[in-house]
Amino acid sequence: MTKRLHPLLIRILHWNNAVVMIVMITSGWGIYDDDVIIRGLHFSQTFRLGSWAAESLLWHFAGMWLLAINGAVYLAYGLASGRLRERLLPIRVADVIHTIRDTLHFRIAHEDLTTYNAVQKLLYIVAIVAGVSQVITGLAIWKPVQFSWLVTLMGGFQSARVLHFLGMSVIVGFMIVHVALAILVPSTLWAMVTGGPQVPNRRHQGEAVP
Ligand code: HEM
Repeated sequence: MTKRLHPLLIRILHWNNAVVMIVMITSGWGIYDDDVIIRGLHFSQTFRLGSWAAESLLWHFAGMWLLAINGAVYLAYGLASGRLRERLLPIRVADVIHTIRDTLHFRIAHEDLTTYNAVQKLLYIVAIVAGVSQVITGLAIWKPVQFSWLVTLMGGFQSARVLHFLGMSVIVGFMIVHVALAILVPSTLWAMVTGGPQVPNRRHQGEAVP
């Protein structure tokens, strides 16, 4: 039995996530600008979703449900199908060093779409963890009374805001590298649109999957 490298559900979730992330980031910048964390750091209106903070907040609240539901479905599917483990684990330190060394020597291989290299795996895990942490820190800032224990755990309301800002920065950094690589290796982009090559479906081959 075979299946597509990126099953339809994964593609829908991935592109949904990409659009919602852009909505969350740009509306977040609109909210941020009303009460900045880093003095002197403002986001231009060109990159803000919403003409003023209250409108940006409405976008942010609308997007957060989609982000959380989309992410929860991705994680549930990834854990139940074994995809997360199959595609993103294991990560060995030696492989990370090896991949970084190869990249610095412009020897990075990308003919094989079916496996992620160690750095890719690491970056995807960072992006997933950052996405989950954005939902948690966001909850703390949104409902600081109901989730006061979460606010306390984060060291107070302002620290929760800073953590939320840091999470956004990690995701923006990830997206810049991620989109640049997708453009550099368009076959990966095409595979994320069409599903990519057929790969063996390990579930139907009696192999152990979680
Ligand atoms: C317009 C923006 C984006 C583009 C063009 C894009 C493109 C891609 C492509 C081409 C792949 C497949 C990589 C490969 O097969 O080598 C991929 C996978 C992935 N992307 Fe994106 N992406 C975007 C936004 C995002 C965002 C915002 C996130 C999360 C913050 C994200 C997280 C991931 C993850 C976790 C995977 C691995 C999925 C899996 O195999 O289960 N992407 N992306």
